[in-house]
Amino acid sequence: MHRRGKISGVSAHVLEGSWNPDGPSLVVLGDNAAVLPKLPDAVFRMIYIDPPFNTGRVQRRETVGTVRSAAGDRIGFAGQSYATVRRGVIGYDDRFEHYWSFLEPRLEQAWRLLSPDGTLYLHLDYREVHYAKVLLDALFGRDCFVNEIIWAYDYGGRARRRWPPKHDNILVYVKDPAAYYYDCEAVEREPYMAPGLVTAEKAARGKLPTDVWWHTIVPTAGREKTGYPTQKPEGIVRRMVQASSAPGDWVLDFFAGSGTLGAVAQAAGRRFVLIDESDHAFEVMKRRLDSGAGRVPVSYLDAGGAG
Ligand SMILES: C[S@@+](CC[C@H](N)C(=O)[O-])C[C@H]1O[C@@H](n2cnc3c(N)ncnc32)[C@H](O)[C@@H]1O
Repeated sequence: MHRRGKISGVSAHVLEGSWNPDGPSLVVLGDNAAVLPKLPDAVFRMIYIDPPFNTGRVQRRETVGTVRSAAGDRIGFAGQSYATVRRGVIGYDDRFEHYWSFLEPRLEQAWRLLSPDGTLYLHLDYREVHYAKVLLDALFGRDCFVNEIIWAYDYGGRARRRWPPKHDNILVYVKDPAAYYYDCEAVEREPYMAPGLVTAEKAARGKLPTDVWWHTIVPTAGREKTGYPTQKPEGIVRRMVQASSAPGDWVLDFFAGSGTLGAVAQAAGRRFVLIDESDHAFEVMKRRLDSGAGRVPVSYLDAGGAG
């Protein structure tokens, strides 16, 4: 939980006006519900979020006013069908109701902040992804759903009463299904599973990744390990950044944790805004980004006064 004024070397800062398109990347300490409304409409080409789930605490119920965008009407937002779907889904499981009450206003902000050709990556697991898919279909519009990426890993114990779950789910939604940015040629290729079945030339070039990504968790003794408990591997986030943003673009993670999106973005020449309410996360991000590859100017703000 964010405790104002505890971070050494970072003074309390009024966030409004701190972001500008030609300014430095930003790392903000604060509750994203208070910080996101201070950022202008439609400036991020890519948003990646990996929110906490079932953390044991009852999520706070908060509302952030819906902000109409100059970019046009949102088909799903607050419409009759969304309201009906929402009632049905959250009525089914009250644990999900708490979760969704926490996430929904933040997803509305994500929609507002995406550029007209922007993409949202929402990182979840098998316990919540099905509810979230139904709600996001209604919220963004079903035709704005692009992919469900399966990140498969092989780590930890093996359940003996069911198939051991060893994957996360990443839902991909775009703001405009007719005009979203996606550059498959910029994505690093991967080896064929059966290189003997393709020409030597193809085998040497590798293949485009599909929507199933086999990738290790962050290795315990690896270079990128920060010690932050929920840190995600740079390799999976890099794919999203390569496909859904161009060099120079702005990208956003408002559940930033150890700052994986920032580390990837700065190495790839993208600019970023990272937000987290935890002092520990903020310290980890500062350390990581100040020593990272392709280091760029970064402002560190304590948004304690932003609300
Ligand atoms: C699953 S972790 C993200 C891990 C991150 N993807 C990484 O690679 O390190 C979720 C993060 O959300 C942050 N968080 C939870 N509620 C928040 C809120 N209301 N505002 C800002 N950050 C929040 C937590 O402090 C935590 O660091």
